[in-house]
Amino acid sequence: MSNINVENKHFVFGGCDMVEIAKQYKTPLYVLSKDIIDERIYEIKKDFLQKYSNTRAVYASKAFLTLEMCRILKKEGIGIDVVSGGELYTAIKADFPMENVIFHGNNKTLDEIEFAVKSRVGRIVVDNFYELEMIEKVAKDLGEKVKILFRITPGVDSHTHKFISTGQVDSKFGIPLVEEILHKGIIKVQKSLNVELRGFHFHVGSQLFENTSHIKALDILMRLIKEVKDTVGFETKELNIGGGFGIYYKEGDDPKPLQYFIDPIMKDLQDRCTELNLFVPQVIIEPGRWIVGEAGITLYTIGSIKNIPGVRTYVGIDGGMPDNPRPALYDAQYEGVIANKMDLPKSKVVTIAGKCCESGDILIWDLKVPILESGDILAVKSTGAYNYSMASNYNKLPRPAVVMVGKGENQLIVKRETYDDLISRDI
Ligand code: LLP
Repeated sequence: MSNINVENKHFVFGGCDMVEIAKQYKTPLYVLSKDIIDERIYEIKKDFLQKYSNTRAVYASKAFLTLEMCRILKKEGIGIDVVSGGELYTAIKADFPMENVIFHGNNKTLDEIEFAVKSRVGRIVVDNFYELEMIEKVAKDLGEKVKILFRITPGVDSHTHKFISTGQVDSKFGIPLVEEILHKGIIKVQKSLNVELRGFHFHVGSQLFENTSHIKALDILMRLIKEVKDTVGFETKELNIGGGFGIYYKEGDDPKPLQYFIDPIMKDLQDRCTELNLFVPQVIIEPGRWIVGEAGITLYTIGSIKNIPGVRTYVGIDGGMPDNPRPALYDAQYEGVIANKMDLPKSKVVTIAGKCCESGDILIWDLKVPILESGDILAVKSTGAYNYSMASNYNKLPRPAVVMVGKGENQLIVKRETYDDLISRDI
């Protein structure tokens, strides 16, 4: 993680003093480093888009989506993957070019399909044939021709938490690799005037440190591409290989650079296409966490400090599972620092407890810290992905604000929710 510095005993992130930022915007607060996002985008360009021709990158917006995030991606020529009408709406409101939007989802509603077709999104990734029928009908009624990919379940088990593994046979996502099902679908689309099948999509899972799942899935897809060319005469023009590239959360995590995933995939793809006499399809990647995860931290103020002699010390913070549900959901582990005491030796191990009425609302079980006092500022690292986007109002806690920092400047990009916001839709 770059851009982490200490100045005047304070934690500096994106060139800004996090103690000052906490004072200015109050806590809990999401802070996102534009510098780190820029570095990731640069890596995507250098090691994928510029290195290999006929490639595209789209950002999985479920990781973190705001208008400002859309604007950054638009400027950089990176597309967006959306999985709901709400995500699509956000992209539209940011004037995002619709041809660079990919619409996903395992149970798109008719309203969402109409919205996507009317908005002329670049691709719809079809998850099932119920959805395909709706897309055809909507496209026909609106006189549109919709470009689609089929999402395939490649039958690959990824080494990650079972809730974020998606490519295995027993999965709610995608079309199973069963010949009759798939062939029927392709033949149907080939006859359609309103739907154009461009190729296939797979996503094997999230937070992966190894490239083996992608490589196995690619091998399966290459066989599929050859098979459907020979049997039903379908030529694959696009292959979307999903996201899933892992990031650093805690000691022992071993994230790899993007090229560790990309290079063998691109080599295999080219080799297999030559061997099987296939047209080399366009390759699309869809990273989410990898772009924003390490770019984010969350600032909290420490309140109660409860020492249970011989047991543990619970340190209460002013947020918790509503702003970061990942520890409760996935046993996710985080690291953190005391932003105003960066110079002090870490002499104690404490438990960081959220403020919800749930025993399970523990953010970090064992964190090494200096001697703490109420009012200290805790910075939890790697919270840029799947925190703000998964936040709730449990216990009627208002969602934190989001501040973007970079090169010493800071900018509010999402306002803190107010108590009035919490009841604004109540009748
Ligand atoms: N493409 C598709 C089709 C996906 O389903 C996902 C993530 C991605 C791309 C991006 O994956 P990433 O690069 O971010 O790993 N809430 C969970 C993660 C769920 C991921 C779901 N799909 C978490 O907090 O770990």
